[in-house]
Amino acid sequence: MNSMVFPKIDIDGMPKWDGDLAPLECIAIKDETHNVKSFTFRSKVDAWFEFLPGQHTTLFLNINDASVMRTYTIASSPTHHHAITITNKLLENGAVTNWMHKHLKVGDCIDALNIGGSFGIAFDQPRDKVLFMSGGSGITPMLSMSRYLIDLSIDLDIVFLHNAQTPRDLIAKDEIDFYEQHQSNFNRHYICDNADDDWPGERGLLSLTMLNNLVLDIIEREVYCCGPKAYMDNVKSILNEIGFDMAHYHQESFDIESSTAQQNMAEPDKFIAHEEGESIEVVEYNITLQETGKTIKCGSNTNILVAIQKEGIVTPFACSMGMCGTCRTKMIEGKVDMDAQGGLLKSHEAEGYILTCCSHPESDLVLEL
Ligand code: FES
Repeated sequence: MNSMVFPKIDIDGMPKWDGDLAPLECIAIKDETHNVKSFTFRSKVDAWFEFLPGQHTTLFLNINDASVMRTYTIASSPTHHHAITITNKLLENGAVTNWMHKHLKVGDCIDALNIGGSFGIAFDQPRDKVLFMSGGSGITPMLSMSRYLIDLSIDLDIVFLHNAQTPRDLIAKDEIDFYEQHQSNFNRHYICDNADDDWPGERGLLSLTMLNNLVLDIIEREVYCCGPKAYMDNVKSILNEIGFDMAHYHQESFDIESSTAQQNMAEPDKFIAHEEGESIEVVEYNITLQETGKTIKCGSNTNILVAIQKEGIVTPFACSMGMCGTCRTKMIEGKVDMDAQGGLLKSHEAEGYILTCCSHPESDLVLEL
């Protein structure tokens, strides 16, 4: 009798993927809705992916002879070690996403940065009930978290609440419906901005009454939220209204594609306005870039990324808002004032990493750059 031959799924003998090891090779493209696609990638050389549900990676693309980077949340589960999936939506001004939808083919290879980000399931939180709230493409981290929790049969009570413009904009609806039918610990609710009369779900803007009706025990849940800023602002204001303990609220902005690196690129002022009628003089510091071998000047009112770019030094960045982690750099010496918006793990901060796009010097610095 022939012996059975199993595919090689053991990851022990494989390297862990990181951006320096190999580019990502596109192995599948799937239409999710009329304007949303999923792109699945594996490492070009055999490797496995280690990440937490909710984390993201940054793709490097060459579009019209210009190098561009964009950060995307991984929608697949970390339990699927051999591939990652990115799900993104065509946007009016989304140059990178639109290029991917039109031009990326199975077999194409893309360079990417290591997976990072600090939005994810807070397993250290004591609550055994979670509420995933997402608007539009903000569903991607919730998909990764749900897939992960279900794959591992983790005993959490999950409510999945998703807002879309219309029923035809619901991403991964079949899968979410399947979980609803077959997982006793999974309940889903859809809310559409606009829908025909035969739509059985909720419609209109998420309101306090709607949320209270759909999730009776919301006050007992750990809440994870991702979507456009207006959506998350609305969620936060409703939660505040019901007296929700915001220590149990976590949010991520998915809107990195539409953010612009130019937002933080304004010329710094010589004086920072402080209180009315008062101003604080800017102090100028030296920043030594160890690998580049240069020392540059940076005022205490200037973010470090801007100062580096003004010297014509090319360094990776994407969101320029402290969210994506792309500009993460190790600080060997010195002190900065940093306003990271979730783009840096606490453990990395403890190791001395900073995000240059949202850090101002408070002393002379030495960076590993
Ligand atoms: S460029 Fe995104 S965190 Fe700095």
